[in-house]
Amino acid sequence: MLRKIAITAVSALALAGGAARASEGGHVEDIAFSFEGPFGTFDEHQLQRGLQVFTEVCSACHGLKFVPIRSLADEGGPHLPEDQVRAYAKQFTVVDKETGEEREAKPSDNFPRNTGAGAPDLSLMAKARAGFHGPYGLGINQFFKGIGGPEYIHAILTGYSGEEKDEAGTTFYENHAFSTGWIAMPPPLSDDLVTYQDGTPATTDQMARDVSAFLMWTAEPKMMDRKQVGFVAVLFLGLLTVLLYLTNKRIWAPHKGRKTS
Ligand code: HEC
Repeated sequence: MLRKIAITAVSALALAGGAARASEGGHVEDIAFSFEGPFGTFDEHQLQRGLQVFTEVCSACHGLKFVPIRSLADEGGPHLPEDQVRAYAKQFTVVDKETGEEREAKPSDNFPRNTGAGAPDLSLMAKARAGFHGPYGLGINQFFKGIGGPEYIHAILTGYSGEEKDEAGTTFYENHAFSTGWIAMPPPLSDDLVTYQDGTPATTDQMARDVSAFLMWTAEPKMMDRKQVGFVAVLFLGLLTVLLYLTNKRIWAPHKGRKTS
């Protein structure tokens, strides 16, 4: 019996160790984003700054093909005024689905795709990547901190060491957060690369946080609604539990405590 337990414990440890090594990417630091936790909400101003970073920097290589431009006006999202959204759309050219000709984008179009640089689409990236996976930790941890998608993007953007190497005609940049340690994306951010209208200092860290929050919104634009519905559902279920408990007591009250013999 003891031997069996010992063997089980040792193999469980070995398995867990293997899994821990497999999930080893780089160090991903937890960030207390405003949208985390059961009552978290997106910070409209942060999303607007993130949109600016995406537009001025990332969109040179990355697309956002699943995101409708009109959703920039959504409450709970960046919440831009309608006229700004119309003006914003005009900077992109899209191929009209009906005429097949190029034209200015309208709010009803999606952000353009961009495959030129071999860069992945960023629409769903914040949910496709995770920073806190692994055998350690309980689900409850992820409930409060999320799975670390935006943290992973932040870690990638701030994880460059400055080293680079050429391999088969491609330049790779050393990045501590990337799985292989070397990424084909040149460091996109540097201090004061953009000028924020709200006066927030545009440090690399700040821009990385803002664009990560923005990409969390593109990946899950209805997060606020989901949390609200979830909260109401939990309240309702709580109330229902109390009612059922009381009903149950009442139904069985005449039979409880009565001697049967
Ligand atoms: C000069 C072009 C270029 C710019 C500008 C650029 N990227 Fe990239 N990005 C790439 C390429 C190329 C890859 C693919 C890298 C690879 O797989 O090695 C990539 C990959 C990524 C990835 C995926 C990493 C992974 O786990 O696969 C993320 C996230 C990302 N970029 C975010 C951004 C953000 C945010 C910005 C703007 C601040 C940005 N990128 C700006 C070219 C660019």
